[in-house]
Amino acid sequence: MIYVTGDIHGYSGDIKKLTAKNVTSKLTKNDYLIICGDFGLIWDTKHETMKEKMWIKWLQDQAWTTLFVDGNHECFPRLYTYPEKDWKGGKVHEIRSKILHLERGYVFELEGKKIFTLGGATSHDRGPATGDMASVGKYWWPEELPNAEEFARATASLDACGRKVDYIITHCLPTKLQDIISNNEYFNDALTDYLQGLVDTVEYDHWYCGHYHVDRSMTDKITVLFNSVLEIGSKLQEVTRELGVPIYKKGKTVRFMYNGSEEKGQIVRVMPWGNPAKKGEPCYNIQFLNSAKQALMVKESDIIDVA
Ligand SMILES: [Fe+2]
Repeated sequence: MIYVTGDIHGYSGDIKKLTAKNVTSKLTKNDYLIICGDFGLIWDTKHETMKEKMWIKWLQDQAWTTLFVDGNHECFPRLYTYPEKDWKGGKVHEIRSKILHLERGYVFELEGKKIFTLGGATSHDRGPATGDMASVGKYWWPEELPNAEEFARATASLDACGRKVDYIITHCLPTKLQDIISNNEYFNDALTDYLQGLVDTVEYDHWYCGHYHVDRSMTDKITVLFNSVLEIGSKLQEVTRELGVPIYKKGKTVRFMYNGSEEKGQIVRVMPWGNPAKKGEPCYNIQFLNSAKQALMVKESDIIDVA
């Protein structure tokens, strides 16, 4: 079985979706888990840190095989130092024997399914796009976007299989869908435009991506993942609400229902475990944008979306 999930950022708070018992006890040695970018465990510019080693060992020790496309939260120069090998129709960097980076622009054949991969994304919160030139080579790299060779490879790989695959795995969305999800936080670029060109020219069953730190069905066939771990081919039933795994972060501005009307506000407190009176899902305290008051203990299911 193949599973897919969203960004882990090399950070325990985002890796916990994998350490949850419903994942560790369910996935077997025959299973693959694909992370849709922002693996983040190859982040230090010089070497594997203790923390990186620890989580890489944890992944290697799990029953399943971990696969990932790159996002924009990877130290690319170091990622490219891992051994490269041919694997199931494409090329991978072997981080460990059971942790493989799926390189850009290949169609991998896994369990009889064709999976097209094209990682990368523009960073919206650091690097030249924000005027932050000090980050270049420290925690931002130009390789976050595919180069001409990688785009050409992607086109050749798709053409070689008649532009028909089972699944597409990317880090970011096509331009038009990114416009919907982004609230002007994310920048369109050559990659989102290239992906936009695939929407109507490639036949596929389902497309999964990460990057936006929410779980959301964008269309019937395109799903953004963050905390959800899905069997490939399946869709989000509803937004997954799980105690201890809040979808929204402190500081996010959201639209939410309160006393029967739609409001807008900024999350000022996250209560991952809800409270005894409102069991079953995380709760939030939200500062109204247009008044000094706060909405207290708003259930996650009453939050409509990031504003
Ligand atoms: Fe991310």
